[in-house]
Amino acid sequence: MTTVEQAVLVSRDAAHLVHPLHNPSAHSGARVWVGGEGAYLVDADGNRFIDCLSGLWNNTAGNGRTELADAAAQQMRQMGFASGYIGSSNPRAIELAERLAAITYPDINHFYLTSGGGEATDSNIKLARYYWKLKGKPEKTKVISRIWGYHGVTFAGMCATGIAPYWEMFKPLIPGFVHIPSPYPYLYEAPAGAASQGIAAADELEKKILEEGPDTVALFIAEPVQGAGGVLVPQDDYFPRIREICDKYEVLLVSDEVITGFGRTGRMFGLEHWGVKPDLIQFAKAITSGYFPLGGIGISDEIASVMNESGSPWMHAYTYSSHPVGCAVALAMLDIIEQEDFVGQAREKGKRLLVKLKEALADHPNVGDVRGLGLMCGVEFVKDKPSKTMFEASEAIGPKIHAATVERGMFSRVRGDAYCIAPPIVTDEDTLDRIPQILAEAVNSVLG
Ligand SMILES: Cc1ncc(COP(=O)(O)O)c(C=O)c1O
Repeated sequence: MTTVEQAVLVSRDAAHLVHPLHNPSAHSGARVWVGGEGAYLVDADGNRFIDCLSGLWNNTAGNGRTELADAAAQQMRQMGFASGYIGSSNPRAIELAERLAAITYPDINHFYLTSGGGEATDSNIKLARYYWKLKGKPEKTKVISRIWGYHGVTFAGMCATGIAPYWEMFKPLIPGFVHIPSPYPYLYEAPAGAASQGIAAADELEKKILEEGPDTVALFIAEPVQGAGGVLVPQDDYFPRIREICDKYEVLLVSDEVITGFGRTGRMFGLEHWGVKPDLIQFAKAITSGYFPLGGIGISDEIASVMNESGSPWMHAYTYSSHPVGCAVALAMLDIIEQEDFVGQAREKGKRLLVKLKEALADHPNVGDVRGLGLMCGVEFVKDKPSKTMFEASEAIGPKIHAATVERGMFSRVRGDAYCIAPPIVTDEDTLDRIPQILAEAVNSVLG
């Protein structure tokens, strides 16, 4: 039910605010969020919703965490800002880099901080190009990423992102950004005779590197579990094979851990599931549970030493790199992650959620796939299950199911006809069990 309060706010909003993915008609039924308690959001009418996507995959600690608020306030009182440019630093950034070195992959020990994930993508691409120049291979500039991959919408991030609607109105893309299919277990079709679906999907990278020329490819960027693309969990043999291919052709492997970092999948970082070590990582979102915009990249010892020995400055800079308040919030968040065992919680709650999602939905004739890893799940709807025929986009099944969940007190996002589920890691079991129930009710109301 929409009361005057919410309606008035939405109309004032429409007068002056431009939103991400802006379109006024899509905004007319907007919710104006005014409060939050743990895994719940409260709108301007006082309605409570399960925050089924942790905000935008980031708010793993939930709303109302006074530790994070206190860390920000204390740092703001002491020093709200100081330059992080070369020649300046601050204790919180130094402590954060030390903590990150201890918890990320063993070879990743050097960190450059940004305000979010898209800036991190650009930073990694620019660093990789610089690295190859320093190594005497200046032609290695190309970026390979995956269809359905999401790496942000800064210009280079957008070009790496493999979701075509993000490109159309801004084309031409930067030359040298190329895409391969995702290891989409539900839909990827391996060629006849392939060793396995995962190996075949990974071999798409080798094929593309050979097509483009190994001497021209700088990096391959991939999310351990694709989030915005609809929660695509790769096969167990996919990333080990990707690592082999990257090594064979001297292509840097960049793990985009913007969603998967800091426990979401039931490991601290996503590639740990498969024992694979990346050359570069990027992170954002849960490092502050979304309470402050902070992201960054993690650099291997090898790359950092080449960079450090070059003797010349890396001409890359953001005003808010190493922001002391962001770093203070991140340090408080790392305490929460460790003290409350977010990794273990995501693993156990994720298992429970996936079982219950399958129980509630897998038999429905239009539920093609129920998938997940840790506290990150996706449910994909299809018109015809045996043939995996998709609904027409004009039928707007995903948006209708989303609307039906909102009516029932749950808020998330869809990618086409895939419903994404990534609630806060602090979500209690009763609330967690409500998610499959609400989704099943919504699906039945839309699809019968
Ligand atoms: C995997 C991944 N990389 C990068 C980004 C971009 O981050 P930001 O929106 O902070 O620029 C996102 C955002 O959802 C993401 O999911």
